[in-house]
Amino acid sequence: MSDPFRPAPRPRSSGSTRLDSYVDRYAARTQGMTASEIRALFAVASRPEVVSLAGGMPNISGLPLDAVSDALADLVRHRGTVAMQYGSGQGDPHLREQICDVMRLEGIEAHPDDVVVTVGSQQAVDLVTRIFCDPGDVVVCEAPSYVGALGVFKAYQCDVVHVEMDEHGLVPSALRQAIATVQAAGRRIKFVYTIPNYHNPAGVTLAPERRPEILEICREADVLVLEDNPYGLLGFDDEPHRALRADEADGVIYLGSFSKTFAPGFRVGWALAPHAVREKLVLAQESATLCPPTFSQQAVSAYLDTQDWRGQIKSFREMYRERRDAMVGALSDMMPAAAHWNVPTGGFYVWLTLPPGLDAKAMLPRAVTQRVAFVPGTAFFADGFGSRSMRLSYCYPTPERIREGVRRLVGVIEEELELRHTFGTDIDAAGPRAVNRGYDGPSSDLT
Ligand SMILES: Cc1ncc(COP(=O)(O)O)c(C=O)c1O
Repeated sequence: MSDPFRPAPRPRSSGSTRLDSYVDRYAARTQGMTASEIRALFAVASRPEVVSLAGGMPNISGLPLDAVSDALADLVRHRGTVAMQYGSGQGDPHLREQICDVMRLEGIEAHPDDVVVTVGSQQAVDLVTRIFCDPGDVVVCEAPSYVGALGVFKAYQCDVVHVEMDEHGLVPSALRQAIATVQAAGRRIKFVYTIPNYHNPAGVTLAPERRPEILEICREADVLVLEDNPYGLLGFDDEPHRALRADEADGVIYLGSFSKTFAPGFRVGWALAPHAVREKLVLAQESATLCPPTFSQQAVSAYLDTQDWRGQIKSFREMYRERRDAMVGALSDMMPAAAHWNVPTGGFYVWLTLPPGLDAKAMLPRAVTQRVAFVPGTAFFADGFGSRSMRLSYCYPTPERIREGVRRLVGVIEEELELRHTFGTDIDAAGPRAVNRGYDGPSSDLT
């Protein structure tokens, strides 16, 4: 008799790495799980000779590493048995108090009881989607939207409806229209996912005067808002913008992160949710991880207690502003007239739209050969739009490398334009320059 506890024999390799002999056993939801365009790029773009304007890695070289190292050593020495033990599913109580202090900078008055600590804000997007969305539910997103969130929505088999943005962020009339269209079709919208500040990838910020209107539209339509705000404290000139959550406690779930204001490797983020939702999130967190990593939470907490974190954020802002200036300066100096882009007032990203007729994804292999990388716009749409656009990140390379990267990119674009000219598919070279627009497709409906 065969031993039921013996592991099943591993399927024999056919010699090809492309055949997956488990293919007929995966759950239907895995069909939505595909490698993002960013992921495929990382391997190539991380070669030292390539200027990567692709990834959104924060530049943490300015952190006070000696001081952090002393704080971590103290943590292990004096509180190691707590810091390396299981913890609460909701997250460390002291850290949750500190998180409330951080959110106060954006006008949010919250109780630590309503905060759930997560493994980066990425896990918060996952948990919120897990507790709200059944297959076929609709999630409304900006156009374009954060690729990591689109991946989550896809994995939970949601239908994404994109809504237009302009230079002032999400367009209220377009949001109203999209919600009405979906609801008229008898479909359920579970939430509007929005990144109001220094948008990834569009670089734009939701204008203060639009914020109450967006809240009002969602309140009227009885639709939750999922406010994802990892870059809110990284504005270059302004005081932090007032969070949507600051003016609406019941209808907004707010997500925050220490990835950009401290360091992403600790993987500490959070969700602030209405009380009942918070309870469901904790249950979901417990089933996903038992508890968020105690050591990481204690490390972030010790950093906030012992270091000048506000001063550190100020110096991050100055560093990123210098890089933004390098990026937009180089674009203004070198880009062909028919390309256009926005000038971000914070965060990490510029959204560039190519001269008509060019396709960013098709151009990418040539760009990598010329040792520059970017993310094609199509990565940020669930519906195939964005082919004329690309996201350029200025957060990681030095200003000199950014300029060199733009020089190489312009070389590739000019070659492409030359080819089109030679083969008689010339384009209309006249076009707007440096306008702030984040969408090159129509605002979508359910089709
Ligand atoms: C808009 C947005 N949301 C969420 C995340 C996830 O951040 P983390 O999980 O590191 O907190 C990112 C990361 O780049 C982001 O840009």
